[in-house]
Amino acid sequence: MTSGTPHIVIAVDGPAAAGKGTLSRRLGQHYGLNHLDTGLTYRATAKALLDRGLPLDDEEVAAQTARALDLSDLDRSVLSAHDIGEAASKVAVMPKVRRALVEAQRAFAGTAPGAVLDGRDIGTVVCPDALIKFYVTASPAVRAKRRYDEITGNGGEADLASILADIEKRDARDTERSDSPLRPAADAHLLDTTEMGIEAAFEAARRLVDAALGR
Ligand code: C5P
Repeated sequence: MTSGTPHIVIAVDGPAAAGKGTLSRRLGQHYGLNHLDTGLTYRATAKALLDRGLPLDDEEVAAQTARALDLSDLDRSVLSAHDIGEAASKVAVMPKVRRALVEAQRAFAGTAPGAVLDGRDIGTVVCPDALIKFYVTASPAVRAKRRYDEITGNGGEADLASILADIEKRDARDTERSDSPLRPAADAHLLDTTEMGIEAAFEAARRLVDAALGR
């Protein structure tokens, strides 16, 4: 990196299946930034507990497990399983777990040349000073249909009604928890992808990032 190159951090938040992962990966590639899906850190913590037969609600044990995580070893193909997402949203309510993972996420954001982080609390808690913040959302029905298409497209079996019910349950858990609830930062740009394809969302975001960079 040449000296004088700005350290760029882009924060992307939103509920499950709103398209924030795809958008974040595209932004990371376009601007040459590292990308961290912070949901994977909560998922990996939950999976480590499940694998060892430990309870999901013992805050000390869960926090210890979170502190031992290696961010360079997060396997999306294993961690994306539906039941791990459910377990992740349970460990994510515990403040000591959040503190441990937020510390690791901030260290990642500080690594040159900068990063795109996506999650639920990036703009509000993890990186409140990010260059630019996005809040990506879509109606629950559209998010459920995307998740359904993703699963069946990979040859899996899915039930649309139960996916929708799970999405609504997870939204409630994420927005109603007392520590770092899901909500847009006051200075976040809202991107509603209900009727917008991911390419259009990326173009809208890219224009806003370019403007923030003075390009
Ligand atoms: O985004 P993903 O579905 O992988 O996240 C799994 C769960 O992890 C979420 O439902 C949420 O409870 C939690 N999470 C969080 N804060 C983040 C990212 C994820 O609480 N920054």
